[in-house]
Amino acid sequence: MKLTATFSCITYLLLAISAATGTFASPVKGADPSLTEFRNVGYFGNWDIYAKNFTVSDIPLDQYTHLLYSFADIDNSTGTVSLSDEWADTDKHFAGDAWDTEHNVHGNIRQLLLAKKKQPTLKTMLSIGGWTYSPSFNEILKSASKRSQFATTAVKLMYNLGFDGLNLDWEHIATAEESTYFVDLLKKIRHLMNDYAVDTKSAPFLLSVAMDSNPKHYTIMDIPAMDKHLNFWDLMAYDYAGSWDETTGHQAALFPDSKNPISTPFNTETAVNYYLNEGKIHPSKINLGFALYGRAFTNTDGPGKPFSGVGGGSLVDASGDGKGVWDIKDLPHPGAIVTELPEIAASYSYDSDSRTLISYDTPNVVRQKAKWLKEKGLGGAMWWQVDGDKTGEESLVGTVVKELGKLEKSKNHINFPSSEYENIKNGMNGEGVESAPLQR
Ligand SMILES: *[C@@H]1O[C@H](CO)[C@@H](O)[C@H](O)[C@H]1NC(C)=O
Ligand SMILES: *[C@@H]1O[C@H](CO)[C@@H](O)[C@H](O)[C@H]1NC(C)=O
Repeated sequence: MKLTATFSCITYLLLAISAATGTFASPVKGADPSLTEFRNVGYFGNWDIYAKNFTVSDIPLDQYTHLLYSFADIDNSTGTVSLSDEWADTDKHFAGDAWDTEHNVHGNIRQLLLAKKKQPTLKTMLSIGGWTYSPSFNEILKSASKRSQFATTAVKLMYNLGFDGLNLDWEHIATAEESTYFVDLLKKIRHLMNDYAVDTKSAPFLLSVAMDSNPKHYTIMDIPAMDKHLNFWDLMAYDYAGSWDETTGHQAALFPDSKNPISTPFNTETAVNYYLNEGKIHPSKINLGFALYGRAFTNTDGPGKPFSGVGGGSLVDASGDGKGVWDIKDLPHPGAIVTELPEIAASYSYDSDSRTLISYDTPNVVRQKAKWLKEKGLGGAMWWQVDGDKTGEESLVGTVVKELGKLEKSKNHINFPSSEYENIKNGMNGEGVESAPLQR
């Protein structure tokens, strides 16, 4: 979910002008004031079980309505969607996994299915793409037959592995032509999901996309055409500033800072208003993204100022990936002073000795954002990614869930009669606790 694309100043200027002339200021239509139950969606990465030693059993499941299991890969020559790490996904034996001779699913996916049995309102979706695998989208989408292959293999993975739906994360749609291909892909997936639901007398399956906050990308997307096929959209309302920039900035500010505009190269309000007013999405279909991490800048005097370097991180790999990225649970660092800016709904820590600024959200800031999303009539929250939070009073997810009040309670799918895995086909029979039979 990294946003390294450089920003076009010209695009921004044009948008700033249209914003000033009122294009974005029109009132939001279609807000549903009766909305009282919210989604809370979290990304869980299949890599978390390694260096982070973080598994499904570490997720505070009762705080979530949907988990997005990331990421499935795409073969860039055929369009075939497949798992990216079969050992982690289906093979690893966790405590309680039998060394059976039947063809049963193990790995994270069995853990997710057991969680679904325990909590019948927890839905899981297989997320395809992400930053790493996104280049394959560009390769395969122009071919109608590869789009079909993508849709067929993605939906098959969904029901073979017991997911309630699919999440597509393409970073980023770059041309209007690509947007039409993407719409066609969504349409094909939706058709196959619907057919499968009818064939198996199941409740409908879910389809969502990760949505971009950069006007350079969202202004070329055919949002209304995409929306027809989607249950909801997950707004990546973060990564607004980082190592790729010339100056420091707030990585997830809700509003632009008129006194220090250079510190807010992007903001969430502008993006949300565009999706609602120009994209005509019903607000309840948008989940507002929150970052469970902060972005660091070293050798700087403050927000909107030059910096050099980003320092270390919570988890830096051998190639240096992860530098400048700190989990919320590691913040703030000792000795750093935390400043909250309610006028833009952002916060940061600053250590004057090391001259290090880290842009991240405090509980007060996420509470303010949750209030705002309720006022806006949005459908809930989304988190990248579930392993980064603190516990107790300091938990950002817990703070937002408390502010939202009530989470939605639609039932998950537990019966997948055409799965090739015996335990999934049998509804995890004898494993976990029994859930209520699926209604409808
Ligand atoms: C991983 O976490 C579990 C508890 O969740 C703990 O028992 C185990 O020792 C940890 N393993 C490592 C290598 O830290
Ligand atoms: C396609 O994927 C292969 C294997 O991952 C990779 O080596 C190759 O560079 C990719 N090709 C393109 C055009 O992205």
